Amino acid sequence: MERDEAKLRAYFEEPPADVSLEDVDLARIPRHVSFIMDGNGRWAQARGLARSKGHAAGVDSLREAVTTSVRLGVDVLSAYAFSTENWRRPQEEVNLLMHLFATTLVKELPLFHQENVRLRFLGDIDALPKKTANVFQRGLDETAGYDGMTFALAVNYGSRAEMARAARMIASDVAAGILDKDQIDEQAIADRLYTAGLPDPELLVRTSGELRLSNYLLWQLAYTEIVVTDVLWPDFSRWDYLRAIRSYQHRDRRFGGVTSA
Ligand code: FPP
Repeated sequence: MERDEAKLRAYFEEPPADVSLEDVDLARIPRHVSFIMDGNGRWAQARGLARSKGHAAGVDSLREAVTTSVRLGVDVLSAYAFSTENWRRPQEEVNLLMHLFATTLVKELPLFHQENVRLRFLGDIDALPKKTANVFQRGLDETAGYDGMTFALAVNYGSRAEMARAARMIASDVAAGILDKDQIDEQAIADRLYTAGLPDPELLVRTSGELRLSNYLLWQLAYTEIVVTDVLWPDFSRWDYLRAIRSYQHRDRRFGGVTSA
């Protein structure tokens, strides 16, 4: 993705002591960066605030992550906002999150227009409350023509459900005679995932210290470098993003081979 060098330098002005733009190789920025945004609840709790305040602060962090990704020239940014398991949260919190998704998306649309960002959703969007689903569709329609960064938001997403869905699609295609059983290869499966057409993430960042994947992009993360930070999502800044990329760039990616990629 093309970068605006002047905007990039201005965006990373006044760095903290331990990290700056000079610490990352701009020629090796990952194409696809993905986030498991965790710790909103703990952030709020630590301040004696309602969990809803944590989610609201999480929106600010996500906006910054979108802008940082655009400035760095990332092609695809994805983020886990709501899992198929999150329906088990108290009804009040589920309602609040659905409302927050809808209102935030409307509010943030100008940013997507301004930065040429194309929106995409990973997950079963049709099963969301009607108002949220409608707003999501509006976001898709309004940004469909943009060819800058892709922002893929995982909502009502679960990796196992995604794979079961792909299996059903393949079964239908075989039954309909569109696909031969011997043509079912890795690409045939990848083509039927929500991420069809997107490169796999090179870097996954999980905030708030938890060491698990939580049913997120299990297929797509096969060779992804994982960075876990103790920073809670509402505190995650452009500098934490740079730290994660610096860490990623120090890894020796072998993809099962023996020499450095
Ligand atoms: C994890 O924190 C966060 C979520 C389950 C919700 C993620 C949503 C946002 C960051 C808001 C994004 C908004 C839009 C519009 C995309 P947690 O509640 O699991 O935190 P905890 O583990 O500390 O309880």
